Amino acid sequence: MAVLVTGGAGYIGSHTCVELLDAGFDIVVVDNLYNSKQESLKRVEKITGKPVEFIKADIRDKEALREIFSQHEIEAVVHFAGLKAVGESVKIPLDYYDNNISGTITLCEVMKEFNVKKIVFSSSATVYGITDKMPLTEDMSLGAINPYGRTKLFIEEILRDIYNSDNGWSISILRYFNPIGAHKTGLIGEDPKGIPNNLMPYIAQVAVGRLPELSVFGNDYDTPDGTGVRDYIHVVDLAKGHVKAVEWVLKNTGCDAVNLGTGRGCSVLELVAAFEKVTGVKIPYKIVGRRPGDAAIVYADVSKAKKVLGWHAELTIEDMCADTWRWQKNNPLGYAE
Ligand code: NAD
Ligand code: UD1
Repeated sequence: MAVLVTGGAGYIGSHTCVELLDAGFDIVVVDNLYNSKQESLKRVEKITGKPVEFIKADIRDKEALREIFSQHEIEAVVHFAGLKAVGESVKIPLDYYDNNISGTITLCEVMKEFNVKKIVFSSSATVYGITDKMPLTEDMSLGAINPYGRTKLFIEEILRDIYNSDNGWSISILRYFNPIGAHKTGLIGEDPKGIPNNLMPYIAQVAVGRLPELSVFGNDYDTPDGTGVRDYIHVVDLAKGHVKAVEWVLKNTGCDAVNLGTGRGCSVLELVAAFEKVTGVKIPYKIVGRRPGDAAIVYADVSKAKKVLGWHAELTIEDMCADTWRWQKNNPLGYAE
Protein backbone atom coordinates (compact mmCIF):
# COMPACT_ATOMS: atom_id res chain seq x y z
CA MET A 1 0.00 0.00 0.00
CA ALA A 2 1.29 3.48 -0.83
CA VAL A 3 0.34 7.12 -0.53
CA LEU A 4 0.23 8.96 -3.86
CA VAL A 5 1.73 12.45 -3.52
CA THR A 6 0.76 14.79 -6.37
CA GLY A 7 3.16 17.74 -6.72
CA GLY A 8 5.56 15.88 -4.46
CA ALA A 9 8.69 17.36 -6.08
CA GLY A 10 7.63 20.88 -5.04
CA TYR A 11 8.44 22.86 -1.91
CA ILE A 12 5.86 21.56 0.57
CA GLY A 13 5.53 18.24 -1.26
CA SER A 14 9.21 17.32 -0.94
CA HIS A 15 9.21 18.05 2.80
CA THR A 16 6.05 16.00 3.21
CA CYS A 17 7.64 13.08 1.30
CA VAL A 18 10.43 13.07 3.92
CA GLU A 19 7.97 13.01 6.83
CA LEU A 20 5.76 10.33 5.22
CA LEU A 21 8.79 8.09 4.56
CA ASP A 22 10.10 8.69 8.08
CA ALA A 23 6.67 7.74 9.45
CA GLY A 24 6.89 4.42 7.58
CA PHE A 25 4.59 5.11 4.60
CA ASP A 26 5.51 3.98 1.11
CA ILE A 27 5.02 6.78 -1.39
CA VAL A 28 4.55 7.31 -5.11
CA VAL A 29 5.12 10.82 -6.45
CA VAL A 30 3.47 12.26 -9.55
CA ASP A 31 4.64 15.69 -10.72
CA ASN A 32 4.94 17.35 -14.14
CA LEU A 33 8.02 19.28 -12.90
CA TYR A 34 6.46 22.54 -14.11
CA ASN A 35 7.62 24.33 -10.97
CA SER A 36 10.18 21.91 -9.54
CA LYS A 37 13.13 19.68 -10.31
CA GLN A 38 13.54 15.96 -9.85
CA GLU A 39 16.70 16.76 -7.88
CA SER A 40 14.46 17.57 -4.88
CA LEU A 41 13.35 13.94 -4.78
CA LYS A 42 16.94 12.70 -5.08
CA ARG A 43 17.61 14.79 -1.96
CA VAL A 44 14.55 13.28 -0.26
CA GLU A 45 16.12 9.86 -0.92
CA LYS A 46 19.41 11.09 0.53
CA ILE A 47 17.75 12.42 3.70
CA THR A 48 15.59 9.36 4.34
CA GLY A 49 17.80 6.63 2.89
CA LYS A 50 14.71 5.28 1.11
CA PRO A 51 13.93 5.13 -2.61
CA VAL A 52 11.17 7.35 -4.04
CA GLU A 53 9.02 6.05 -6.88
CA PHE A 54 8.60 9.02 -9.25
CA ILE A 55 6.35 9.36 -12.28
CA LYS A 56 6.64 12.45 -14.43
CA ALA A 57 3.07 13.17 -15.51
CA ASP A 58 0.39 15.84 -15.47
CA ILE A 59 -2.57 15.21 -13.21
CA ARG A 60 -4.87 16.37 -16.03
CA ASP A 61 -3.71 13.33 -18.02
CA LYS A 62 -6.36 10.76 -17.11
CA GLU A 63 -4.64 7.85 -18.84
CA ALA A 64 -1.38 8.55 -17.00
CA LEU A 65 -3.24 8.61 -13.68
CA ARG A 66 -5.07 5.37 -14.53
CA GLU A 67 -1.72 3.78 -15.25
CA ILE A 68 -0.41 4.88 -11.83
CA PHE A 69 -3.47 3.58 -9.98
CA SER A 70 -3.37 0.26 -11.81
CA GLN A 71 0.37 -0.24 -11.26
CA HIS A 72 0.36 0.67 -7.53
CA GLU A 73 -1.87 -0.12 -4.63
CA ILE A 74 -2.75 3.44 -3.59
CA GLU A 75 -4.49 3.78 -0.21
CA ALA A 76 -4.67 7.59 -0.02
CA VAL A 77 -3.68 10.69 -1.97
CA VAL A 78 -1.95 13.85 -0.73
CA HIS A 79 -2.75 16.45 -3.36
CA PHE A 80 -0.31 19.36 -3.69
CA ALA A 81 -0.14 19.69 -7.50
CA GLY A 82 -1.26 23.11 -8.63
CA LEU A 83 -0.23 26.60 -9.62
CA LYS A 84 0.16 29.04 -6.73
CA ALA A 85 1.21 32.55 -7.74
CA VAL A 86 -1.51 35.09 -6.94
CA GLY A 87 -0.29 37.81 -9.33
CA GLU A 88 0.14 35.35 -12.21
CA SER A 89 -3.35 33.97 -11.60
CA VAL A 90 -4.83 37.41 -12.31
CA LYS A 91 -3.03 37.48 -15.69
CA ILE A 92 -3.71 33.88 -16.79
CA PRO A 93 -6.87 32.82 -14.90
CA LEU A 94 -7.82 30.09 -17.38
CA ASP A 95 -4.51 28.32 -16.83
CA TYR A 96 -5.18 28.41 -13.08
CA TYR A 97 -8.74 27.13 -13.42
CA ASP A 98 -7.62 24.41 -15.81
CA ASN A 99 -4.57 23.27 -13.88
CA ASN A 100 -5.96 23.48 -10.36
CA ILE A 101 -9.66 22.73 -10.81
CA SER A 102 -9.67 20.46 -13.88
CA GLY A 103 -6.60 18.71 -12.47
CA THR A 104 -8.37 18.00 -9.19
CA ILE A 105 -11.53 16.81 -10.95
CA THR A 106 -9.54 14.41 -13.14
CA LEU A 107 -7.68 13.13 -10.08
CA CYS A 108 -10.92 12.56 -8.13
CA GLU A 109 -12.54 10.82 -11.12
CA VAL A 110 -9.67 8.36 -11.34
CA MET A 111 -9.66 7.89 -7.56
CA LYS A 112 -13.37 7.04 -7.77
CA GLU A 113 -12.76 4.58 -10.62
CA PHE A 114 -10.18 2.77 -8.48
CA ASN A 115 -12.26 3.05 -5.31
CA VAL A 116 -9.62 5.14 -3.54
CA LYS A 117 -11.65 7.66 -1.52
CA LYS A 118 -9.12 9.18 0.85
CA ILE A 119 -7.54 12.52 0.03
CA VAL A 120 -5.65 15.29 1.81
CA PHE A 121 -5.90 18.60 -0.06
CA SER A 122 -3.65 21.70 0.03
CA SER A 123 -5.93 24.66 0.60
CA SER A 124 -4.90 28.07 1.85
CA ALA A 125 -5.82 30.75 4.36
CA THR A 126 -6.61 32.81 1.26
CA VAL A 127 -10.09 31.15 1.21
CA TYR A 128 -11.08 33.36 4.17
CA GLY A 129 -10.89 36.41 1.85
CA ILE A 130 -10.31 39.77 3.52
CA THR A 131 -11.62 40.08 7.08
CA ASP A 132 -10.59 41.90 10.26
CA LYS A 133 -11.79 39.11 12.53
CA MET A 134 -8.72 37.34 13.90
CA PRO A 135 -7.86 34.61 14.64
CA LEU A 136 -9.42 32.84 11.67
CA THR A 137 -11.53 29.83 12.61
CA GLU A 138 -12.54 27.09 10.18
CA ASP A 139 -16.27 27.88 10.48
CA MET A 140 -15.91 31.48 9.27
CA SER A 141 -17.51 32.51 5.99
CA LEU A 142 -15.33 32.00 2.92
CA GLY A 143 -14.66 34.26 -0.05
CA ALA A 144 -11.66 34.57 -2.30
CA ILE A 145 -10.36 37.77 -3.87
CA ASN A 146 -8.28 36.54 -6.82
CA PRO A 147 -8.34 33.65 -9.33
CA TYR A 148 -5.80 31.59 -7.36
CA GLY A 149 -7.88 31.92 -4.20
CA ARG A 150 -11.03 31.06 -6.13
CA THR A 151 -9.45 27.83 -7.40
CA LYS A 152 -8.83 26.80 -3.77
CA LEU A 153 -12.33 27.82 -2.70
CA PHE A 154 -14.02 26.05 -5.64
CA ILE A 155 -11.97 22.88 -5.07
CA GLU A 156 -12.99 22.90 -1.41
CA GLU A 157 -16.65 23.15 -2.50
CA ILE A 158 -16.18 20.37 -5.08
CA LEU A 159 -14.66 18.12 -2.40
CA ARG A 160 -17.57 18.85 -0.03
CA ASP A 161 -20.01 17.94 -2.85
CA ILE A 162 -18.14 14.69 -3.51
CA TYR A 163 -18.44 13.77 0.16
CA ASN A 164 -22.13 14.73 0.26
CA SER A 165 -22.78 12.47 -2.74
CA ASP A 166 -20.92 9.53 -1.18
CA ASN A 167 -20.21 9.42 2.55
CA GLY A 168 -17.61 6.71 1.96
CA TRP A 169 -15.07 9.44 1.11
CA SER A 170 -12.59 10.77 3.60
CA ILE A 171 -11.35 14.27 2.81
CA SER A 172 -9.00 16.40 4.85
CA ILE A 173 -8.77 20.00 3.65
CA LEU A 174 -5.69 21.71 5.09
CA ARG A 175 -5.68 25.50 5.07
CA TYR A 176 -2.04 26.58 5.25
CA PHE A 177 -1.03 29.92 6.65
CA ASN A 178 2.48 31.10 5.54
CA PRO A 179 4.86 28.15 5.08
CA ILE A 180 8.55 29.11 5.25
CA GLY A 181 11.81 27.44 6.33
CA ALA A 182 13.51 24.34 5.02
CA HIS A 183 14.62 20.88 6.12
CA LYS A 184 17.30 21.10 8.83
CA THR A 185 19.81 19.24 6.64
CA GLY A 186 19.78 22.19 4.21
CA LEU A 187 19.27 19.68 1.38
CA ILE A 188 15.72 20.66 0.41
CA GLY A 189 13.99 24.02 0.53
CA GLU A 190 12.00 26.56 -1.45
CA ASP A 191 13.35 27.21 -4.95
CA PRO A 192 11.08 29.77 -6.62
CA LYS A 193 11.23 30.35 -10.36
CA GLY A 194 12.34 33.92 -11.16
CA ILE A 195 11.97 36.74 -8.63
CA PRO A 196 10.17 35.51 -5.50
CA ASN A 197 6.69 36.85 -4.75
CA ASN A 198 6.71 35.87 -1.10
CA LEU A 199 8.57 37.48 1.77
CA MET A 200 10.89 34.78 3.12
CA PRO A 201 12.33 33.60 -0.21
CA TYR A 202 12.87 37.25 -1.09
CA ILE A 203 14.76 37.86 2.17
CA ALA A 204 16.83 34.71 1.56
CA GLN A 205 17.81 35.85 -1.93
CA VAL A 206 18.79 39.30 -0.63
CA ALA A 207 20.88 37.58 2.05
CA VAL A 208 22.72 35.45 -0.49
CA GLY A 209 23.34 38.43 -2.79
CA ARG A 210 20.99 37.47 -5.63
CA LEU A 211 18.78 40.52 -5.00
CA PRO A 212 19.96 43.96 -3.82
CA GLU A 213 17.33 44.87 -1.22
CA LEU A 214 13.91 43.99 0.13
CA SER A 215 10.89 46.20 -0.58
CA VAL A 216 8.62 46.31 2.47
CA PHE A 217 5.07 46.70 1.20
CA GLY A 218 3.73 49.43 3.50
CA ASN A 219 4.48 50.56 7.05
CA ASP A 220 1.18 52.34 7.65
CA TYR A 221 -0.97 49.34 8.61
CA ASP A 222 -2.73 49.29 11.96
CA THR A 223 -0.14 46.90 13.44
CA PRO A 224 2.48 47.44 16.19
CA ASP A 225 5.25 48.49 13.74
CA GLY A 226 3.00 49.38 10.78
CA THR A 227 4.08 46.43 8.61
CA GLY A 228 1.91 43.43 7.68
CA VAL A 229 1.50 40.62 10.20
CA ARG A 230 1.30 36.94 9.15
CA ASP A 231 1.26 33.50 10.75
CA TYR A 232 4.52 31.96 9.47
CA ILE A 233 4.76 28.20 9.90
CA HIS A 234 7.84 26.02 9.49
CA VAL A 235 7.45 23.78 6.43
CA VAL A 236 8.59 20.73 8.45
CA ASP A 237 5.82 21.33 11.02
CA LEU A 238 3.42 21.70 8.09
CA ALA A 239 4.70 18.44 6.56
CA LYS A 240 4.14 16.65 9.89
CA GLY A 241 0.58 17.98 9.85
CA HIS A 242 0.11 16.11 6.55
CA VAL A 243 1.22 12.85 8.13
CA LYS A 244 -1.43 13.38 10.82
CA ALA A 245 -4.00 14.17 8.13
CA VAL A 246 -3.13 11.00 6.22
CA GLU A 247 -3.57 9.02 9.44
CA TRP A 248 -6.92 10.79 9.93
CA VAL A 249 -8.24 9.94 6.44
CA LEU A 250 -7.12 6.34 6.82
CA LYS A 251 -9.14 5.97 10.04
CA ASN A 252 -12.22 8.14 9.41
CA THR A 253 -14.74 9.15 6.82
CA GLY A 254 -15.88 12.75 6.48
CA CYS A 255 -14.90 16.03 4.88
CA ASP A 256 -13.25 18.46 7.24
CA ALA A 257 -11.20 21.66 6.88
CA VAL A 258 -8.40 22.38 9.34
CA ASN A 259 -6.08 25.39 9.70
CA LEU A 260 -2.35 24.67 9.79
CA GLY A 261 -0.57 27.62 11.36
CA THR A 262 1.10 28.52 14.63
CA GLY A 263 -1.60 30.87 15.90
CA ARG A 264 0.97 33.65 16.29
CA GLY A 265 1.49 36.74 14.15
CA CYS A 266 4.88 38.12 13.10
CA SER A 267 5.39 41.40 11.22
CA VAL A 268 7.58 41.94 8.16
CA LEU A 269 10.13 43.91 10.20
CA GLU A 270 10.09 41.34 13.02
CA LEU A 271 10.87 38.61 10.50
CA VAL A 272 13.69 40.68 9.00
CA ALA A 273 15.11 41.34 12.51
CA ALA A 274 14.88 37.65 13.45
CA PHE A 275 16.63 36.64 10.22
CA GLU A 276 19.42 39.14 10.81
CA LYS A 277 19.86 38.04 14.43
CA VAL A 278 19.96 34.32 13.67
CA THR A 279 22.19 34.53 10.59
CA GLY A 280 24.30 37.62 11.28
CA VAL A 281 23.52 38.77 7.72
CA LYS A 282 22.19 42.32 7.21
CA ILE A 283 19.07 42.64 5.06
CA PRO A 284 18.92 46.07 3.41
CA TYR A 285 15.32 47.19 2.89
CA LYS A 286 13.24 50.15 1.79
CA ILE A 287 9.64 50.95 2.61
CA VAL A 288 7.42 51.14 -0.48
CA GLY A 289 3.64 51.37 -1.00
CA ARG A 290 1.19 48.67 0.04
CA ARG A 291 0.74 45.68 -2.28
CA PRO A 292 -2.84 45.59 -3.62
CA GLY A 293 -4.92 42.83 -2.03
CA ASP A 294 -2.77 42.55 1.13
CA ALA A 295 -4.44 42.35 4.53
CA ALA A 296 -2.92 44.02 7.60
CA ILE A 297 -3.05 41.01 9.92
CA VAL A 298 -3.67 37.31 9.28
CA TYR A 299 -3.28 34.50 11.81
CA ALA A 300 -4.93 31.19 12.55
CA ASP A 301 -6.96 29.74 15.35
CA VAL A 302 -5.12 26.43 15.67
CA SER A 303 -7.29 24.69 18.25
CA LYS A 304 -9.09 22.50 15.70
CA ALA A 305 -5.83 21.04 14.35
CA LYS A 306 -4.89 20.03 17.87
CA LYS A 307 -8.31 18.54 18.59
CA VAL A 308 -8.94 16.75 15.28
CA LEU A 309 -5.44 15.83 14.12
CA GLY A 310 -3.55 15.87 17.44
CA TRP A 311 -1.06 18.22 15.78
CA HIS A 312 0.47 21.55 16.69
CA ALA A 313 3.40 23.53 15.32
CA GLU A 314 6.58 23.25 17.39
CA LEU A 315 9.29 25.20 15.58
CA THR A 316 10.00 28.89 16.16
CA ILE A 317 10.55 31.89 13.90
CA GLU A 318 14.27 31.54 14.73
CA ASP A 319 14.22 27.90 13.50
CA MET A 320 12.47 29.06 10.31
CA CYS A 321 15.16 31.70 9.69
CA ALA A 322 18.13 29.44 10.53
CA ASP A 323 16.84 26.60 8.34
CA THR A 324 15.97 28.88 5.41
CA TRP A 325 19.45 30.35 5.57
CA ARG A 326 21.19 26.93 5.72
CA TRP A 327 19.30 25.88 2.58
CA GLN A 328 19.90 29.16 0.70
CA LYS A 329 23.57 29.45 1.68
CA ASN A 330 24.33 25.86 0.67
CA ASN A 331 22.25 26.13 -2.52
CA PRO A 332 22.53 29.77 -3.64
CA LEU A 333 20.93 28.95 -6.99
CA GLY A 334 18.44 26.45 -5.57
CA TYR A 335 18.45 23.06 -7.30
CA ALA A 336 19.96 24.60 -10.45
CA GLU A 337 23.57 23.79 -9.57
P1 NAD B 1 5.24 24.17 -5.60
O1 NAD B 1 5.00 24.90 -6.87
O2 NAD B 1 6.62 24.13 -5.07
O3 NAD B 1 4.69 22.68 -5.72
C1 NAD B 1 3.63 22.33 -6.57
C2 NAD B 1 4.11 21.17 -7.41
O4 NAD B 1 3.03 20.74 -8.25
C3 NAD B 1 5.28 21.53 -8.31
O5 NAD B 1 6.31 20.56 -8.16
C4 NAD B 1 4.68 21.49 -9.72
O6 NAD B 1 5.64 21.11 -10.69
C5 NAD B 1 3.56 20.49 -9.55
N1 NAD B 1 2.44 20.65 -10.50
C6 NAD B 1 1.77 21.78 -10.79
N2 NAD B 1 0.78 21.51 -11.65
C7 NAD B 1 0.82 20.18 -11.90
C8 NAD B 1 0.05 19.29 -12.72
N3 NAD B 1 -0.96 19.74 -13.45
N4 NAD B 1 0.37 17.98 -12.73
C9 NAD B 1 1.42 17.52 -11.99
N5 NAD B 1 2.18 18.31 -11.19
C10 NAD B 1 1.87 19.62 -11.16
O7 NAD B 1 4.24 24.79 -4.50
P2 NAD B 1 4.17 24.54 -2.93
O8 NAD B 1 4.54 25.82 -2.28
O9 NAD B 1 4.86 23.31 -2.57
O10 NAD B 1 2.61 24.38 -2.77
C11 NAD B 1 1.98 23.11 -2.78
C12 NAD B 1 0.47 23.30 -2.70
O11 NAD B 1 0.16 24.04 -1.53
C13 NAD B 1 -0.13 24.08 -3.86
O12 NAD B 1 -1.38 23.51 -4.18
C14 NAD B 1 -0.30 25.47 -3.29
O13 NAD B 1 -1.35 26.17 -3.92
C15 NAD B 1 -0.65 25.16 -1.85
N6 NAD B 1 -0.32 26.26 -0.94
C16 NAD B 1 0.95 26.76 -0.90
C17 NAD B 1 1.25 27.81 -0.05
C18 NAD B 1 2.64 28.38 0.01
O14 NAD B 1 2.83 29.45 0.60
N7 NAD B 1 3.65 27.74 -0.54
C19 NAD B 1 0.26 28.36 0.76
C20 NAD B 1 -1.03 27.82 0.71
C21 NAD B 1 -1.30 26.75 -0.15
C1 UD1 C 1 0.56 35.43 -0.34
C2 UD1 C 1 -0.71 35.38 -1.12
C3 UD1 C 1 -1.57 34.23 -0.60
C4 UD1 C 1 -0.80 32.92 -0.69
C5 UD1 C 1 0.52 33.08 0.06
C6 UD1 C 1 1.39 31.86 -0.07
C7 UD1 C 1 -1.16 37.68 -1.86
C8 UD1 C 1 -2.04 38.87 -1.70
N1 UD1 C 1 -1.40 36.65 -1.01
O1 UD1 C 1 0.24 35.61 1.03
O2 UD1 C 1 -2.76 34.13 -1.35
O3 UD1 C 1 -1.55 31.86 -0.14
O4 UD1 C 1 1.25 34.20 -0.45
O5 UD1 C 1 1.79 31.67 -1.38
O6 UD1 C 1 -0.30 37.64 -2.72
N2 UD1 C 1 5.96 41.45 1.77
C9 UD1 C 1 6.84 42.49 1.65
N3 UD1 C 1 7.77 42.45 0.66
C10 UD1 C 1 7.86 41.41 -0.22
C11 UD1 C 1 6.96 40.33 -0.09
C12 UD1 C 1 6.01 40.39 0.91
O7 UD1 C 1 6.80 43.46 2.42
O8 UD1 C 1 8.72 41.44 -1.12
C13 UD1 C 1 4.97 41.46 2.88
C14 UD1 C 1 3.52 41.38 2.46
O9 UD1 C 1 2.97 42.66 2.26
C15 UD1 C 1 2.89 40.64 3.65
C16 UD1 C 1 4.02 39.74 4.14
O10 UD1 C 1 5.22 40.30 3.64
O11 UD1 C 1 2.58 41.56 4.68
C17 UD1 C 1 3.90 38.30 3.66
O12 UD1 C 1 3.76 38.30 2.24
P1 UD1 C 1 3.79 36.94 1.39
O13 UD1 C 1 4.95 36.13 1.80
O14 UD1 C 1 3.65 37.32 -0.04
O15 UD1 C 1 2.50 36.16 1.89
P2 UD1 C 1 0.96 36.63 1.94
O16 UD1 C 1 0.77 37.97 1.36
O17 UD1 C 1 0.47 36.42 3.31
